[in-house]
Amino acid sequence: MYAKGTAQEADVELAAVRFVCELFSRNRHLSEGPVSCEASPEQLRAIAERGIPAQGRPLDEVVEEMQRDIIGYGYNIDHARFMGFVPGPVNALSWLGDMMASGYNRHAGSFANYPAGCVAEHELLRWFCDKAGFPEGAGGVFVSGGSMANMTALVAARDAKLAEDEWCRGVAYVSEQTHSSVAKGLHMIGIAPSRIRVIPCHDEDFTMDLGALERAIVQDRDAGLKPFAIIATAGSTNTGAVGPLPQIADIARAYDLWMHVDGAIGASVLLTRYRDMLRGVERADSLSWDAHKWLFQTYSCGMVLVRDERTLLRSFNAHPEYLKDLEESAQITNPWDLGPELTRPARGLKLWFTLQVMGSDALSAAVEHGFDLARWAQDELERDERVQIVSPAQMAMINFRYAPAGLGEEELDRLNARISRRMVASGFAGVFTTELRGMKVLRICCIHPETTEDDMRETVRRLGVLCDEELAAMRDA
Ligand SMILES: Cc1ncc(COP(=O)(O)O)c(C=O)c1O
Repeated sequence: MYAKGTAQEADVELAAVRFVCELFSRNRHLSEGPVSCEASPEQLRAIAERGIPAQGRPLDEVVEEMQRDIIGYGYNIDHARFMGFVPGPVNALSWLGDMMASGYNRHAGSFANYPAGCVAEHELLRWFCDKAGFPEGAGGVFVSGGSMANMTALVAARDAKLAEDEWCRGVAYVSEQTHSSVAKGLHMIGIAPSRIRVIPCHDEDFTMDLGALERAIVQDRDAGLKPFAIIATAGSTNTGAVGPLPQIADIARAYDLWMHVDGAIGASVLLTRYRDMLRGVERADSLSWDAHKWLFQTYSCGMVLVRDERTLLRSFNAHPEYLKDLEESAQITNPWDLGPELTRPARGLKLWFTLQVMGSDALSAAVEHGFDLARWAQDELERDERVQIVSPAQMAMINFRYAPAGLGEEELDRLNARISRRMVASGFAGVFTTELRGMKVLRICCIHPETTEDDMRETVRRLGVLCDEELAAMRDA
């Protein structure tokens, strides 16, 4: 569809082909350049002031402007040495699969709209349910990411465990290491912050304190409130901590609570030889699993899986008169009856495509590489006696800080923040900070399959040099 008087079809096609070729080349060489590309204040001002024209502009001019001023700026989260937050190392197959799926722009809300796409997604979800150890009857739906997966699961939890007149007394249990999206999700489903219990974690390994959890549940129950869900984590954002899942499952069963596992990052470990770390996940009622994190997919590819598909169906099925034509022929449950979205893209297709071409063994090996990287980082860091390992290599994460003798806590916080800022500004590696046990620490999350041992060694060496320089500057100040 091209509006009369604007760009010609052939011109748009040519621009698309040219762009794709350039993008492949950019992606191939990305890790030779810096980890971030900052837009200048003038550039941002020019974009803000550009406005929306009533009359269209020449295609080539706008394509050039997009490329020159907008799309390439920001953190290169797919750079081999970007190790902040949860990086987004995208497999080229996912990117191609994404283009194929979005190019056709199918409505994947219902089987009738897109039978083949829905069946491919459905089979893929079944495969992931099997990996989680969920029984026959399990199911799920692809959503935009971990936040939506958590929220979707929490709706099912509320509807399974609370009668309507109990919603205002429902209490959910998270840990102090639970991702912030869970509190947001609880807020969205009507669980007030005053009914979210934040259970402390053990200082040594950042897992949930089970005694505190059980005491809180009993106290709430005795106060006439309605405990309904425990949110466990498989791979916490800060440290990669897990559960402990079997014990949380025991408590959930004992008190008849829904057990949700946020495995946005860590569920991918289920595909590896380290899968035993997640023992107990098979007893969960629901699981969040982000393919746009540690399965190397382009953004907007998360899964919410449930041990019983009917729990999602109960919460999300809707049958308006204007969709009845599309309901009769469904051979599998319509995705729009399993989650909040009606119109949705077939987000799972790029992952299906990636797995078909790559095979699951290669994908597993790519995930396992992250474990090696974190261990290599730890080995290098331990050579420097100023380094304090705050949370050892776990999954693909490690937290540490430079703690040379003679500095107070505030100075150490400042030192480590400066080291991070200067490392990112140097363009060599993206190493950011987080906070653990009241300390500002450096955190590495290394999931890029192409990061090498040398990359890691050189990153740690440069961090040490930055520490030297900062200490010298502090002495001179
Ligand atoms: C453990 C965990 N859960 C949930 C999320 C939220 O996922 P998303 O950003 O895809 O919404 C994240 C994001 O990093 C996470 O680390």
